[in-house]
Amino acid sequence: MGRLEGKIAIITGAARGQGAAEARRFVAEGAEVIVGDVLGDELLDVARELGDAATPVVFDVGDPDEWDRAVAAAKERGGCDILVNNAAIVAFSTIEETSLDDYMRVIRVNQVGCFLGMRAVIPTMKEAQSGSIVNISSIDGLQSKNGLVAYSSSKWAIRGMTKTASIELGPYGIRANSVHPGGINTIMGNPLESPELETVPYKAQAIPRIGEVDEVAAAVVFLASDEASYISGAELSVDGGWNAGQRVALLPGGTLP
Ligand SMILES: NC(=O)c1ccc[n+]([C@@H]2O[C@H](COP(=O)([O-])OP(=O)(O)OC[C@H]3O[C@@H](n4cnc5c(N)ncnc54)[C@H](O)[C@@H]3O)[C@@H](O)[C@H]2O)c1
Repeated sequence: MGRLEGKIAIITGAARGQGAAEARRFVAEGAEVIVGDVLGDELLDVARELGDAATPVVFDVGDPDEWDRAVAAAKERGGCDILVNNAAIVAFSTIEETSLDDYMRVIRVNQVGCFLGMRAVIPTMKEAQSGSIVNISSIDGLQSKNGLVAYSSSKWAIRGMTKTASIELGPYGIRANSVHPGGINTIMGNPLESPELETVPYKAQAIPRIGEVDEVAAAVVFLASDEASYISGAELSVDGGWNAGQRVALLPGGTLP
């Protein structure tokens, strides 16, 4: 038996990166998946690879009407047990140099998209009196960095709205948790696919390397599954220990082997 046997999941941002890895892992664990993304060709490739277990829905998570199509596709398969709000974009600029349009573009996809996704699946999950929502935030939803005002705002918002969801939905058998990846080896996390960027920025972190998509997907499977039946409103960091603090070379134990 797979750990997600018989479950039906909607996974957004599944055309590549972490979303595609989650879709693959979910299917390997016995789930059926509705995979969503704006990148049509890449999404169809992922869906084709997954065969009968996957339905692709090309849609924009920032558009409320388009969510109806994703939920309808899940219902056609029998319901919606799991939602993984994974789709996101990033933008780099200082607060002073960020236009309102650029700020809102990130908020619309990352923050509004997550809200719309939860709102869209709740009636179906309530009807079933069960469900698991996994919202992908970031280490930048726990801390931040310069140049990330829009992204970080959106990821803190995801962390907050996940807690609201956990409280509102707990009585209906629905859990909601947030996942906080650190640097992950995807187009977003390593756009130049540079081998140097897989280690150099992470030297001061507990596990001194970039993370891989499967390492996040494993955590998402756990939170989505019944193994996490008493876990709601939690923040699961998958960050190589980024949040534990920094390795300081001047102090004992601070040099890498
Ligand atoms: N890669 C990292 O270092 C890192 C770190 C922390 C958190 N995250 C988070 O992990 C998640 C996955 O990111 P990734 O690393 O796989 O990045 P990615 O850029 O490879 O994948 C993101 C996917 O979301 C899709 N997407 C973007 N806008 C969309 C929209 N409006 N509607 C539907 N789909 C849309 C993209 O087309 C893409 O396929 C994101 O929420 C991201 O913020 C990533």
